[in-house]
Amino acid sequence: MSNAFSITIDGRPVEVQPGESVLMAARKLAIDIPTLCYLEKCGPLNTCQVCLVKSNGKLVSSCGTKATPGMVIESETEEVHEARRTALELLFSDHVGDCLSPCHRLCPLGLNIPVMLRHIEAGQLSDAARLVRNALPLAGVLGRLCHHPCEQGCRRGHWDDPAAIRDMEKFVTDEDRKSVEPCVPHCKPSSGKSVVIIGAGPTGLAAAGFLLREGHKVTVVDRHSQAGGSLRGLSVDHLPWHVLEKEIELLQRLGLEFKPGVALGRDLRLEGLARGFDAIVVAVGEFQSSDATDWGLPLAAGSIRVEPNTCQTALEKVFAAGSAVRPQKQLVKAMAEGRAVAECVHRFLSGQPVHRPEKAFSSVMGRLDAGELRQFLRTANAASAVSPCDRCAGHTRSEAALESSRCLHCDCRSSGNCVLQHYAQTYGVDASRFRAERRQFEQQLQPGGIIFEPGKCILCGICVKLTELAAEPLGLTFIGRGFDVQVATPFSAAIQAGLQKVAAECVEHCPTGALVLQSKPAGESALANVPPLTPRLSHICLRLPRLIG
Ligand code: SF4
Ligand code: SF4
Ligand code: SF4
Ligand code: FES
Repeated sequence: MSNAFSITIDGRPVEVQPGESVLMAARKLAIDIPTLCYLEKCGPLNTCQVCLVKSNGKLVSSCGTKATPGMVIESETEEVHEARRTALELLFSDHVGDCLSPCHRLCPLGLNIPVMLRHIEAGQLSDAARLVRNALPLAGVLGRLCHHPCEQGCRRGHWDDPAAIRDMEKFVTDEDRKSVEPCVPHCKPSSGKSVVIIGAGPTGLAAAGFLLREGHKVTVVDRHSQAGGSLRGLSVDHLPWHVLEKEIELLQRLGLEFKPGVALGRDLRLEGLARGFDAIVVAVGEFQSSDATDWGLPLAAGSIRVEPNTCQTALEKVFAAGSAVRPQKQLVKAMAEGRAVAECVHRFLSGQPVHRPEKAFSSVMGRLDAGELRQFLRTANAASAVSPCDRCAGHTRSEAALESSRCLHCDCRSSGNCVLQHYAQTYGVDASRFRAERRQFEQQLQPGGIIFEPGKCILCGICVKLTELAAEPLGLTFIGRGFDVQVATPFSAAIQAGLQKVAAECVEHCPTGALVLQSKPAGESALANVPPLTPRLSHICLRLPRLIG
């Protein structure tokens, strides 16, 4: 078009039309500027201030700044990123919600427990199996032997008994083993790279599972005749042999090559391995110091010394993890170390900066008071903990569904789709940086299935504008003053009443989990059969540990 002109963003010229904003220009260059309050249909609302860029030495919002000829914009400098990070951190100063549930954050392998429980409750067992198998190496073993730190943080346990999370993992993997088509985790296409892992214990096998799924060729060697390490020493009461066998078979189906009877030092020379493999992982449970020193691996206090954040030893392409580095008493932690070293090796092999898996971002509510807990209980099943009729056989399908329906769904219904959470992760936000005393958690259940959680609302204004554009009879508005401003329906009507025409659109475009659809019918509330306050509630505050995301 004749009136088009050019501006420069991060040194790259881009042609813009008169009236276009800096944000629109940046999007033409595929530059990812974070936005929370911007929706093209609504025009710039200028409320969130996370879309900052630098123009002529000043920080301005890119959605509300029109491009002018010759403009020079900086978008991806450290200064601009810091300003965006601060804007995001301010939004978290009074944010009330958990992106990830307490149990999820406490699982060293990061299993998304509430999603697993919702699948079980809905009878979607293959979905549950896929979720479990993707997160947990040797899932059938963990379902029996994990010390279940997740259950320590389960909010249901502050009412009656925690959800039986470990038993549900066992149920899912037992059902999967019996099924006609057991779940086989998806592996990426071959990377052409090969890794040798020395030690077929929990850490080595876990590392193998994750590396195989990244498409690498994996060989595991062990001085024993069978894979499994310390798991082989357990009685069948604790771990039936066929469970471990099946888990190892599954790894072999993914391509694992196992070489028994091969010992570090006696049979293995570093030079030979270095010629044959692109990376080497030392994951032995026990080792002789002399073997390690023969290899030239520096030791510290009798353990192999590694860079803590990269699992790298002093030798090129040699990594170490598990008990060889730090004694691991807990099975799930030993496997989490396997996952960490696998991530480091995968990054090394694919030319990315080497580091352990990043911690998933989560806003954290911390302690709940009795009233807050009661709000969560409204959407959960009132049944008390469900013990299997036949202890040896474990939960039946109906028992497992009932037990799973006791979950309070402490995770945010928007987690994974929340724009605020996404950019908080991207920008390395510290959600507690500006945190003051937090507001009460409030959850308004609307008759049409909409849930409004005011503590998650960032007052972006999108829903208010959408109801205005749709000429809703009541619509939504901002009420209150200063720090007490809140989105609400005029005349104190329910939120649902203000959303006769554009409820779905508002839910879709809400950038956080403030406005969401309830994913399942409320069913019988956990509050239905209990008195208003139980004695257990009096010590909630004492029992609920401070949960770190
Ligand atoms: S709204 Fe987003 S940021 Fe807030 S708790 Fe939910 S997922 Fe986390
Ligand atoms: S109630 Fe459910 S989501 Fe909440 S902590 Fe327990 S298992 Fe996790
Ligand atoms: S509820 Fe409305 S104002 Fe609040 S964050 Fe969602 S869309 Fe924005
Ligand atoms: S101020 Fe630009 S997206 Fe919010």
